[in-house]
Amino acid sequence: MSDQNPVFIPGPTNIPDRLRAAMQVQTRDHRAPDFVETFAPVLENTKRVFGTRTGKVITFPTSGTGGWEAAICNTLSPGDTVLVARYGMFSHRWIDLCQRHGLDVQIIECPWGSGAPADKFEAALTADKARDIKAVLVTHNETATGVKSDIPAVRAAMDAANHPAMMFVDCVSSLASMEFRMDDWGVDIAVSGSQKGFMLATGMAILGVSPKALAAMETAELPRTFFDFRDMMAANATGGFPYTPPLQLIYGMRESLKMLFEEGLENVYARHFRLAEGVRRAVDAWGLRLVAERPELYSDTVSAIYVPDGFDSNALTDQAFNAYGVSFGIGLGEMNGKAFRIGHLGSLTDVMVLSGLATIEMAMADLDYPIELGSGVAAAQEYYRGHRAALIKTAA
Ligand SMILES: Cc1ncc(COP(=O)(O)O)c(C=O)c1O
Repeated sequence: MSDQNPVFIPGPTNIPDRLRAAMQVQTRDHRAPDFVETFAPVLENTKRVFGTRTGKVITFPTSGTGGWEAAICNTLSPGDTVLVARYGMFSHRWIDLCQRHGLDVQIIECPWGSGAPADKFEAALTADKARDIKAVLVTHNETATGVKSDIPAVRAAMDAANHPAMMFVDCVSSLASMEFRMDDWGVDIAVSGSQKGFMLATGMAILGVSPKALAAMETAELPRTFFDFRDMMAANATGGFPYTPPLQLIYGMRESLKMLFEEGLENVYARHFRLAEGVRRAVDAWGLRLVAERPELYSDTVSAIYVPDGFDSNALTDQAFNAYGVSFGIGLGEMNGKAFRIGHLGSLTDVMVLSGLATIEMAMADLDYPIELGSGVAAAQEYYRGHRAALIKTAA
């Protein structure tokens, strides 16, 4: 029965029954004339989630990491300079990927728990008189630390430096859960995936690509085959795919978009804020501390929480799993052993979050944490009672 428990990892997320059913389709011919009727509206409707009218949506059968690779290899050439700040495991891994592709990566080191340093970006861009920097890479929601970065502030920094670099944003763990406005924020490529806010199985990278990035594609010289935007766009133009598409995920995506629009994107964001705020109240009641340094950095999709000195966060997540059959996120990289993570994104309600808080409290009590059993749950209950959610029933 423990397979009925929700997961509290920050993706892949719980898959609602409605989406599991939507992905449960028999093979259909992706070269049949009716495939276009399924696929083209999916691409079109996904634009709304990115907040773009002028950009294109491009998908690949891969995970978010493949989306990072697609972003850089379609727009950059060997030896090009990119500017990026490292403040967690995912910004670190994107840096590593760029380095392995032969890019010159200018890195701004930041403490884990902080976010994208707009002021330092501005200084680096202003100092780049030769305009060598071709792209600024930003992780919107650092899933390892539960930190949300201010993308408009990065855009403002780029504008203040009057620098022509493109801006690429990793929104893998924020899109379809937290506000994202690709056009308004001047994002050139936004990289996401199917298994977080879209509540689907892993297997599809989903990118929003601006006209400026598409223009860069014409001269970019990094090698690409599977991830070539040009092949994908040429095939998509007639409703097709350059190779075999992940058909079941495309059907899932069609239904996921329906669910998101039925709830309303603004309500989706508000729900994520409310769920996250309940978790934050619980953390406070336990007397524990978030990894995110300041309230404006708090992520609404994942909270990374320091365990008290002398405790091992891996023992805590193991206890929750072994004793109660519930998964929480482990501490990644620098945070390993020091912090655990509660994922609160995708298909979740207040009631589900309360069950997660109750479970981690039991695991903490089992391991003699200095917390009062029930204190976090009570704090979240009070918050949820006072900020009751509209009961939204999604059609079956
Ligand atoms: C912010 C962020 N970027 C990138 C990735 C990598 O995505 P994937 O594991 O789908 O390759 C993840 C995965 O959790 C992530 O959270």
